Amino acid sequence: MRGKLVVGNWKMNGGLASNAALLQALVAGWRAEPGRAIAVCVPFPYLAQAQAALTGTAIAWGAQTASEHRSGAYTGEVAAPMVAEFGCRYAIVGHSERRHIYGETSAVVAAKALAVLAAGMTPIVCVGETLAERDAGTTEDVVLQQLEAALAAVGEAAAKLVVAYEPVWAIGTGRTAAPGEAQAVHALLRARLARAGAAEIPLLYGGSVKADNAGALFAMKDIDGGLIGGAALQAGDFLAIARA
Ligand code: PGA
Repeated sequence: MRGKLVVGNWKMNGGLASNAALLQALVAGWRAEPGRAIAVCVPFPYLAQAQAALTGTAIAWGAQTASEHRSGAYTGEVAAPMVAEFGCRYAIVGHSERRHIYGETSAVVAAKALAVLAAGMTPIVCVGETLAERDAGTTEDVVLQQLEAALAAVGEAAAKLVVAYEPVWAIGTGRTAAPGEAQAVHALLRARLARAGAAEIPLLYGGSVKADNAGALFAMKDIDGGLIGGAALQAGDFLAIARA
């Protein structure tokens, strides 16, 4: 049976003092349970802080992106091997904010997934349609194309990915996909992943997941947990979602 994975995406939030309190509350509140795992993806400058606070606990940590390049003249970028040096298990790639605000194409996202794997970490590959795409009836095409690009790049390593379905219209809007609506997309992604030999990887849902809707979403057959933005910034909310 696939376990549950709940990952916090702190986005560009936090500070040394507030992070310390949040990490401490997570450590105090999280009891390791078979089949349930949690992780936090923090801004780059706080990777060392997360590593110091979470080493030896049942909570993993990671980054929110990583460069597709190994090293060199890429001012401002952070390479996957650098992130790996801070004990990260995960790096998110292709979050919709990276795709839409910073213009990351599916080809770039695929290259990043490959770089993250090469550095010994697990990429959390995000896919999701915009509201216009959903209204135009192209949700399936959009998410499959995004997934396809990553699968083509990683080849046999598909079984080492985590995939997150995050409808762009549900992110930070308070508007969640209905559990059945999310499940329909998850089933589609699962079928494609199965053909790539990756039927059993964690398939997360993200977009306005809160303590009061997580249970219904995670009860769906192909939803293995969540990628949590806003609600990951409060230990109580995040832990309640992780236990849902
Ligand atoms: P949200 O963000 O939970 O605040 O909607 C989810 C995400 O962007 O990963």
